[in-house]
Amino acid sequence: MYFLGIETSCDETAAAAFTDEPRVLSSVIASQTELHTAFGGVVPEVAARAHLQRLLPVIDEALRQAGITLSQINAVAVHHTPGLVGALLVGVTAAKMLALTLEVPLIGVNHIQAHIYACRLAAGRDIFPCVGFVISGGHTALFDCRGPLGMKLLGATLDDAAGEAFDKVASILGLGFPGGPAVEHEAEAGDPKAFSFPRSFLHDDRLDFSFSGIKTAVLYATFGQGNVSGTLPEGRRRADLAASFQQAVIEVLVEKARQALRRTAYQNLAVGGGVAANRALRAALEHMTEEEGAELFIPPMRFCTDNAAMAALAVEKWRAGDFASLDLDAVPAYA
Ligand code: KG4
Ligand code: ZN
Repeated sequence: MYFLGIETSCDETAAAAFTDEPRVLSSVIASQTELHTAFGGVVPEVAARAHLQRLLPVIDEALRQAGITLSQINAVAVHHTPGLVGALLVGVTAAKMLALTLEVPLIGVNHIQAHIYACRLAAGRDIFPCVGFVISGGHTALFDCRGPLGMKLLGATLDDAAGEAFDKVASILGLGFPGGPAVEHEAEAGDPKAFSFPRSFLHDDRLDFSFSGIKTAVLYATFGQGNVSGTLPEGRRRADLAASFQQAVIEVLVEKARQALRRTAYQNLAVGGGVAANRALRAALEHMTEEEGAELFIPPMRFCTDNAAMAALAVEKWRAGDFASLDLDAVPAYA
């Protein structure tokens, strides 16, 4: 069986072809980063328009790379929640149109659950039950994953997502957008102990996160208490600020993941989302899972950041007979 997957939840226009094994045949991603850079963040209206222009060529390219034609597609899968509503609508509408005209089932996939499923996809073997950890620009959440379709929220950020904090701190330090890779690069030359930034809920029982306080702490450490602007830091000081911020975020992420493993008594930790690209975070998670006697699953970069291959979660839904009707909605909040 051949599936077509579609992703338009934020600022990547993506399509993928995969089989019911599941095996990924192609994964095409058209990034919009260059359109949003000037604004320092994703502009929802700009994202939706760009999806509209790019989605059909991206689908064509995914089919071409997979060596199949539209008429061979047996099911269409689309990330329909969560995300920017205008952006999601483009993918959902295209998926409905294709399912209707090809007369094949339509499958709605939760983008967050798909991020965790990317670990199963990359591993090529069962990873469930596991603790699922999605760390992206829009989400920071821990899940109890009994199976690919049975995910229960354990805790999530109460304000900013970890990736959002990276992006905002990059902007404070004058490092540009997207901020994650820039902060990581800058941090390499800095001392992670130079500044003492807050580690919210680190010693609390709760598995929730908060990253808005650290953003303000970096702001004041950069420009002086109570100041929101001034001369941009340079050289060693900027590297120290980046390294100390990154260290504080990593410490919280790793300790909460450790708590989730202990609470569920699961042996597997599956991590997804753009922030999982961070090498210092990967190393810290590896160290922690080793200490806990657990196994760490992090997909390669191209399956960590937003993509349509992870919509292969649809294969599990197809097996469970969980199909969507043509009134499938684009739902912005996690549903
Ligand atoms: O999963 P993703 O591609 O999109 C969302 O669904 O949000 O994640 C993007 C986020 C951005 O906030 C970006 O700054 C962050 O992931 N990111 C990183 C790194 N690479 C991307 N954060 C820290 N270190 C990185 N190397
Ligand atoms: Zn995502």
